Amino acid sequence: MSARYGVIGWPVAHSRSPLIHNYWLQKAGIDAVYEPVAVPPEVDFRAKLEELREQGFAGVNVTIPHKEAAYAAVDTQDAAAAHLGAVNTILLTGDTISGHNTDGRGFIDSLSAAPNWEAGPALVLGAGGAARAIVGALLNAGVSDIRISNRTRARAEAVAAMVGTADRVTVFDWSARTEAGERATLLVNTTSLGMNGAPPLDMSIDTLATTATVTDIVYVPLETDLLARAKIRGLTPVNGLGMLVHQAAHAFDLWFGRRPAFDAVLRERLHRDLGEA
Ligand code: ATR
Repeated sequence: MSARYGVIGWPVAHSRSPLIHNYWLQKAGIDAVYEPVAVPPEVDFRAKLEELREQGFAGVNVTIPHKEAAYAAVDTQDAAAAHLGAVNTILLTGDTISGHNTDGRGFIDSLSAAPNWEAGPALVLGAGGAARAIVGALLNAGVSDIRISNRTRARAEAVAAMVGTADRVTVFDWSARTEAGERATLLVNTTSLGMNGAPPLDMSIDTLATTATVTDIVYVPLETDLLARAKIRGLTPVNGLGMLVHQAAHAFDLWFGRRPAFDAVLRERLHRDLGEA
């Protein structure tokens, strides 16, 4: 039987992870399949992992709403997972069940699409799990001036407190987000504003550095209003597909010992799947 891999989420049918991993598995000639695994929120996550292991699963990704439950359920956590209290990749093959978090590294890798990005001031909008992973990764990447702005200020403060480097992270009121962007070389939108069905992000990007990179972790649509405005202003727009694919590449590496590429064929398939070919 082929080795089984998958993504645990609720809902999970919309996940693009099967498309990405099955493309890489096929390309590498690895006899394995990657499937969506729908698991409702109230389930005993440890028991579920053991059940999947018995069913032949060698590794899983974890997405909303299970990343924190996964963190609590595994035997060991890597540094990034321990830092975030969240796990997105699990190995089920060893004596112990190990948990990892590749979201932050995936984000940093996605910036390779913006070759002029430099580790200057960065403004992160939002304060959910993605914002935490990104702030942690930016700190790791040597960014010394990180600003966080979120509609609910207390959540932004919780992110700043969690990363524990008060001198490098500043919280701004949501109403001060434009000022918070002053001279920033990176703007990251992790809020749901700009997603299909949500209003666009209402923020001037005129205060950003003229060389700034503007990223949106949303990929439905691929080009949000924010990214379109960034392009018009001559800034470097980076959509959310890069983070999705690169966090997957790090997961693949943990399972198979090699890091696959975000190549043109995969890009084309994802664009087609998203209806934006
Ligand atoms: P999560 O809990 O994973 O962060 P979410 O509820 O979809 O998911 O919200 C994502 C982010 O978008 C949050 O930072 C949220 O701000 P709050 O912490 O204040 O809820 C932000 N967000 C959602 N709708 C918004 C809006 N209309 N204006 C400003 N921020 C918004």
